[in-house]
Amino acid sequence: MKGEPVFHVLPDAEALARAAAGRILGIVRERLADQARKRKTGVKFHMALSGGTTPRRAFELLAGPPYAEIFPWEDVHFWQVDERWVPPDHPESNRRMLLDTLLSHVPVPSVNLHFIDTSLGSPADAVRAYETALRAALPAPKRGFPAFDLVHLGLGIEGHVASLFPDSPAMDEASAWVTTSTGGDPDLPRVTLTLSVINAAAAVLFVVSGSDRAEALEKTLAGEAVPGGLVSPENGTLTFLADEAAAGEVEP
Ligand code: 6PG
Repeated sequence: MKGEPVFHVLPDAEALARAAAGRILGIVRERLADQARKRKTGVKFHMALSGGTTPRRAFELLAGPPYAEIFPWEDVHFWQVDERWVPPDHPESNRRMLLDTLLSHVPVPSVNLHFIDTSLGSPADAVRAYETALRAALPAPKRGFPAFDLVHLGLGIEGHVASLFPDSPAMDEASAWVTTSTGGDPDLPRVTLTLSVINAAAAVLFVVSGSDRAEALEKTLAGEAVPGGLVSPENGTLTFLADEAAAGEVEP
């Protein structure tokens, strides 16, 4: 890991959403500036966003002032961390949530949007299609994994991240970039990035809210064997943003 994990506690869910929006923009700007300093041309920023409820407010903030005007939308490619196996316009669809809260309100070119396609025949078909799209956009070393510039994660009550649930076979996937899984709330078949891809990212950002996450966050921060605790980007940074309810007794 690059440096020690960073852990910030915010007073409440609204402050957490503000901090998350600001941190996402900060990571994007820093990385693009670094690429410009190295005179790399045509380089884009690739970010994978989680679904669920917690990120909604931060995404809405990014879609409004001042972020909507200052965010470098054209330079950022948006990917999904995971998707529930429901039609794309279903209320439980993560793609729909990303579009409704953020992506349909900002001037991001449509070629920069990469969704897990739940209109295909099966989750396995969607896995293949998503991995193919990833391989075309994000080069990786032979038998290695693509390095997202940022992977944004939530944390489930029992410590899951992405759609990687405790004891799920998806957790043991050693070589795939994308895999199928089942579980969560709602309990559905899912398509998810693997732990290997998450741990290959240049930056991983957890955003965690609510007292029902306190135990999972404590285990995750302690590096225990819950999925969250296994997130440890090999060459990247690891940041936790939590509200006071989720942080519980844990001191930053
Ligand atoms: C999903 C997610 C998932 C999420 C956690 C936390 O599809 O459910 O992408 O990994 O981040 O379950 O979800 P909440 O924010 O809804 O608590």
